[in-house]
Amino acid sequence: MQESHSRLDGSEAIVVARSETDRPDPTEITRLAEAAGFAVADAVTQRRREDPGTWIGRGKAEALAERARDLGVDVVVFDGGLDPGQYADLVDLLPDGVEPVDRYRLVLDVFADGTGDERAALQVEAARLSYVLPRLRRITKVSQLSKAVEKGNPILDVEARIDRIENQLADIAERAAERRESRRASGLGLVAIAGYTNAGKTTLLHRLADDLSLADADAEHADLTDSTPIEDRLFVTLETITRQGTLDDLDVAYTDTVGFVDALPHDLVESFSATIDEAASADVTLLVVDATDDPERLREKVSTSVDAMGDTEGPVVGVLNKVDAVDGQTASAERRDTLAEFVDDVVAVSALEGTGVERLEERVREALPTETATLSLPNDGDGHRLLSWLHDHASVDAVEYGSTVTVRLSARPSVVERARARVADLG
Ligand code: GTP
Repeated sequence: MQESHSRLDGSEAIVVARSETDRPDPTEITRLAEAAGFAVADAVTQRRREDPGTWIGRGKAEALAERARDLGVDVVVFDGGLDPGQYADLVDLLPDGVEPVDRYRLVLDVFADGTGDERAALQVEAARLSYVLPRLRRITKVSQLSKAVEKGNPILDVEARIDRIENQLADIAERAAERRESRRASGLGLVAIAGYTNAGKTTLLHRLADDLSLADADAEHADLTDSTPIEDRLFVTLETITRQGTLDDLDVAYTDTVGFVDALPHDLVESFSATIDEAASADVTLLVVDATDDPERLREKVSTSVDAMGDTEGPVVGVLNKVDAVDGQTASAERRDTLAEFVDDVVAVSALEGTGVERLEERVREALPTETATLSLPNDGDGHRLLSWLHDHASVDAVEYGSTVTVRLSARPSVVERARARVADLG
């Protein structure tokens, strides 16, 4: 097993689908394999319960090995999870150099490809290594083991790398927490956008941040980026992307988090902790779901997402997205009710067309912590400069000019605190 190869572009694969109850359908695993860069040369299916040794039946596995030899493929992709024992048995059975790859491994490879961001790349690498380690321990074929790692003790090597990556991740998490703190201190409301992959998180982020004039983003917010590609791929967003928007003059940082995926086991989803951190510490989390999913799927996804996010500091608003693509009121209402079982509030929107987005913004606005204050500023140059600062950082509700300038405003508590300090400085 090569424990950290990157994209497998051009490698040839046979895909294998098995089902105990239905007719096995290799369509999805083929799509996934192609997304990982494989050329799929053949598909093998079997209707049978899982074999504890070779996943498919022994006889079928032998025929598969033959087929792999005939076609000269590089890997065989299994549409399910192979435990370390099954992995080792298949390594033994398949021709030398042909690697068994299961669904989880494939998803990690696709993820590894989609990552640009340092933290996400490390998380994927850590997940891959943790996945590889128990399988590496079971390999008995010397040729395969030496292929896995050229020199040194492969297992110790992998363990050391996992340790190193975990340390690096801890550092990055600390920096991210500091960044959130400084955004908060500078008066930004923090909104996390979470949900399954393909639910429409990126589209919604663009919609919410639309009114942003990026030129306004000052140096304090220099890390906010406007380049979020929207692609209809299987798995896209790995980086957390933050953009700024405004709601009634309040600045808001929207963070599009990692998309949850089905194909990954739960502990692996949890390892994408960037999502969890962002959601846990946001003022409000938008949990985006795809209204075109059938109600049962929707329930599963929402329940997994809510579990994975754990305790959040702020409220979670369920966003029922893509309502434009759902036929009929009843269908929408049913999904809305399902979602409402898990979250504090539900808003139905079409991120694509913009319907319901205003209502969502209102809801976000209500959830952001604000404080109201009435300040009295000197009616001179210093006072006017402070007033203009207040216009930039708070929602100014009223201004009265007299011997002093009286300002009524609402803002995040940190901004009110800073404003009071500046007033005190002016005497
Ligand atoms: P990942 O990055 O994979 O986690 O996906 P995402 O949740 O960010 O989804 P994204 O915004 O990339 O949207 C996925 C697909 O759904 C795209 O093809 C969008 O055009 C489509 N989509 C998003 N919002 C809507 C909507 O309101 N209505 C419809 N019909 N399609 C939508």
